[in-house]
Amino acid sequence: MTDKFARLTIDGSDNTIDLPILSGNLGPDVIDVRSLGSSGCFTYDPGFLSTASCESKITFIDGGKGILLHRGYPIEQLADQSDYLETCYLLLNGELPNEQEKAEFENTITQHTMVNEAMARLFRGFHHDAHPMSMMCGAVGALSAFYHDSLDISNPEHRKTSAHRLIAKIPTLAAMCYKHHIGQPFMYPRNELSYSENFLHMMFGTPCDEPNVNPIIARAMDKIFLLHADHEQNASTSTVRLAGSSGANPFACIASGITALWGPAHGGANEAVLKMLDEIGSVDNIDEYVLKAKDKNDPFRLMGFGHRVYKNFDPRAKVMKETCAEVLNELGINDPQLAIAQRLEQIALEDEYFIERKLYPNVDFYSGIIMKAIGIPTDMFTVIFATGRTVGWIAHWNEMVSESYKIGRPRQLYTGYEARDYQTMDKR
Ligand code: SDX
Repeated sequence: MTDKFARLTIDGSDNTIDLPILSGNLGPDVIDVRSLGSSGCFTYDPGFLSTASCESKITFIDGGKGILLHRGYPIEQLADQSDYLETCYLLLNGELPNEQEKAEFENTITQHTMVNEAMARLFRGFHHDAHPMSMMCGAVGALSAFYHDSLDISNPEHRKTSAHRLIAKIPTLAAMCYKHHIGQPFMYPRNELSYSENFLHMMFGTPCDEPNVNPIIARAMDKIFLLHADHEQNASTSTVRLAGSSGANPFACIASGITALWGPAHGGANEAVLKMLDEIGSVDNIDEYVLKAKDKNDPFRLMGFGHRVYKNFDPRAKVMKETCAEVLNELGINDPQLAIAQRLEQIALEDEYFIERKLYPNVDFYSGIIMKAIGIPTDMFTVIFATGRTVGWIAHWNEMVSESYKIGRPRQLYTGYEARDYQTMDKR
């Protein structure tokens, strides 16, 4: 209950409506408008700029201060001291695992990494030049065709098994997208490898040689997965929640998250950043492109900049930038695109247009340069994002489905025709 209220008076009517104000542990209060519908008014918030869609305990973001907490732990500390699977356990269960819990969780995930052999036939139905994200959308949704033993979403054990299967199988499917794309044989996961080593082995290994994964690259891959693990109620997570609110099975819900992530304004931005850096081509051309980004009549935007929530540095971008420098240095790579990116960042942070609009580099700005250094092709970047984010999607789905919930059914501001009679062909 609350003793704080927002009092709403609607012009032309003498009634006032007291709307409860709810407070969380961190972040802004919310005005509970659930009773407003009965007053004959809806709230109107396309793009949800001022709307809290749910209550959650998983991730907190303070966009003004550049803070990101997963179950209370700062992303900087998790990136520095944890690893991806430990962070998956934290997001799913709410606490860091002890030694035994961690070992058991890692083993459980390892035991679920293979996919049904029939999935290989599904991939072979795609044309070789299909975009990997198109294959991921299809393959992840198709998982529900194989796991009828864990589709009762009201059963906590089924939800847990589905979560483990999705976290374990997504890297296998992601690597299958890549292998089909380049015409190489699919690689089976190897139980002796860590999660990120396994993914890199399935991506770049061949049946002709034994696993041989560079530990520096494996650590960078693990950090990329970790930095993408979850991010509050972003577009794809909100899509997963909305799909889940109809009672759809978890595999179908995660497939819906993958489709929403694909857009260049969201998870597709990392691929768009590399294409942008390619298009800019040289530090000498940056000024011209910054002008295009500021020109309202030009659709060009600086991809990897700006964020709906962060009006300060995206804390993930800071870690990603450090990791980028480390990986390029350790691999002895002198990537000219890094110089373009660094110069672009410097200009954007000094330019009034970007400062006024608080457009800082986001998580996608540097991730593409690291993934390119690791040898991941640009059209696989968003697949990597989806692989890391699957745990966040499934954690939010589980949080919603394990409590009482209602189907998401927004209303609208209707500005179309009023009722009119059908026009027969002779009158049109
Ligand atoms: C992700 O929500 C999440 O948490 C997402 C994410 C996650 O982990 O799930 O963090 C991952 O999606 C990161 C964002 C990746 N997208 C990009 O890098 C694409 C480029 N950025 C933009 O398209 C944009 O900044 C958004 C989509 C990220 C945010 O858009 P908003 O909040 O709707 O802001 P807006 O489009 O209304 O922009 C506000 C102003 C506008 O100018 P004015 O009309 O006020 O004059 O800033 C301008 C925009 O034109 N602007 C940009 C810009 N981003 C915003 N101008 C040039 N380049 C840009 N990148």
